Amino acid sequence: MKNFNPAQLEFLKTISMQESERDWLDIPCFTEIVEEKKNGKIIGLAGVTKRYFLIPSLFIAVLESERGSGLASRLLDSLLKKHKGILFLTYYRKKPYLKEFYSKSGFKKLIPWFGQRVLCIKL
Ligand SMILES: CC(C)(COP(=O)(O)OP(=O)(O)OC[C@H]1O[C@@H](n2cnc3c(N)ncnc32)[C@H](O)[C@@H]1OP(=O)(O)O)[C@@H](O)C(=O)NCCC(=O)NCCS
Repeated sequence: MKNFNPAQLEFLKTISMQESERDWLDIPCFTEIVEEKKNGKIIGLAGVTKRYFLIPSLFIAVLESERGSGLASRLLDSLLKKHKGILFLTYYRKKPYLKEFYSKSGFKKLIPWFGQRVLCIKL
């Protein structure tokens, strides 16, 4: 288990995530991480954390100005090459395109997760 370095933490806090999605940032958490930089600054980050009752869970975030050009897809591909074994994630029901995005990489919908989210699994 590792902690985020200050640059990674700063990056994650600038991403437009809801406050309720940030609770895990202070937990020593990730087991795998991949990042992409531009001019020395992080523009995308993906990793596997131990959230939700310590199950390995995916997180992925791209700087707003860099979205829509395939960076999340590249990060997810690299991460899945490093991470072997079971992996969970949740996505907001309000963002149905994420279901498509994750199912292309082998994630399957499991159950609704606390109303607004959906829990997925990749074996
Ligand atoms: C979700 C997020 C990581 C996507 O990053 P991105 O670099 O823009 O994603 P990509 O360009 O690689 O696109 C991945 C796929 O999702 C689709 N997509 C991404 N954002 C979309 C949007 N706002 N509306 C519709 N489709 C979208 C793309 O069309 C693409 O589909 P394709 O593979 O069929 O072409 C980014 O929006 C983000 O950081 N959001 C805030 C944090 C977050 O919600 N993380 C996910 C938690 S589950």
